Amino acid sequence: MVDLYFAGVDVGSLSTDVVIIDGGSNVLSEVVIPTGVNGSEAAENAFNSALGLAKLTRESIVAVTATGYGRASVAFATGKTTEISCHGVGAHHLFPKTGTVIDIGGQDSKVIQVDSQGRMLDFTMNDKCAAGTGRFLEVMATRLELDLDELSSPLNISGESAPISSTCTVFAESEVISLLAKHTPREHIVHGLQRSIVNRIWSMVASIGIEGEVTLTGGVANNQGLVKLLEEKLGLPLNIPENPQTVGALGAAQIACRKY
Ligand SMILES: Nc1ncnc2c1ncn2[C@@H]1O[C@H](COP(=O)(O)OP(=O)(O)OP(=O)(O)O)[C@@H](O)[C@H]1O
Ligand SMILES: [Mg+2]
Repeated sequence: MVDLYFAGVDVGSLSTDVVIIDGGSNVLSEVVIPTGVNGSEAAENAFNSALGLAKLTRESIVAVTATGYGRASVAFATGKTTEISCHGVGAHHLFPKTGTVIDIGGQDSKVIQVDSQGRMLDFTMNDKCAAGTGRFLEVMATRLELDLDELSSPLNISGESAPISSTCTVFAESEVISLLAKHTPREHIVHGLQRSIVNRIWSMVASIGIEGEVTLTGGVANNQGLVKLLEEKLGLPLNIPENPQTVGALGAAQIACRKY
């Protein structure tokens, strides 16, 4: 079984992620690239890069599960499944005591409860607007003339928070413009924006409850300031994967293996 190889492909709104594992669940390669305008091309490119890194040929991969909003565009997939299932399985694989998964991606955020095998029991999600997502942070980063690393770096972790009262991205952006005009320090604004996302996530967590350890997945888990605030709000430490963007693809690869 260890000589058999499986792949998971997660075509998200912002990143396309591929993970290749062997039948013993060892990760051989993982790749993250921007999805851009063509999900099918991104999937193809990310898969080829992952094959190259793992020194494998296409023919050696016995099953490929596609997930993410663009999963229908993965022509070489042998199966497709939802992101919710994949994040649950991926998070459980990395942190087996996970009972709750919070995925904050580019265009949606989800809170998922999983059983002791990583199977989804219940979930809630926000996919109606950019509030509480990575997109919200990206819009604000542009407005603040900061890149994503600057927006999340510990240098920007400030005790003081500028008031951002609106959760709506468009209105919050106007608030940021006013705050900048009043010479509010950018780190205070960043803190206020992170707090806004945390409050939004908190209301989702409150509606579904917390079970077991909490694992944070999705690219926003790279935002160190936000992680710190979310831990404070939840009153417990979060499991942060080394590569939070590939957890969905890892779960998809595990599902491909299980189904095979
Ligand atoms: N280095 C980084 N520092 C801070 N934030 C980051 C970094 N890299 C990515 N992000 C955040 O992660 C977000 C993208 O996350 P991810 O790749 O999980 O989204 P996605 O899976 O494509 O989206 P979705 O699941 O909603 O379709 C970006 O919007 C950005 O806010
Ligand atoms: Mg995603």
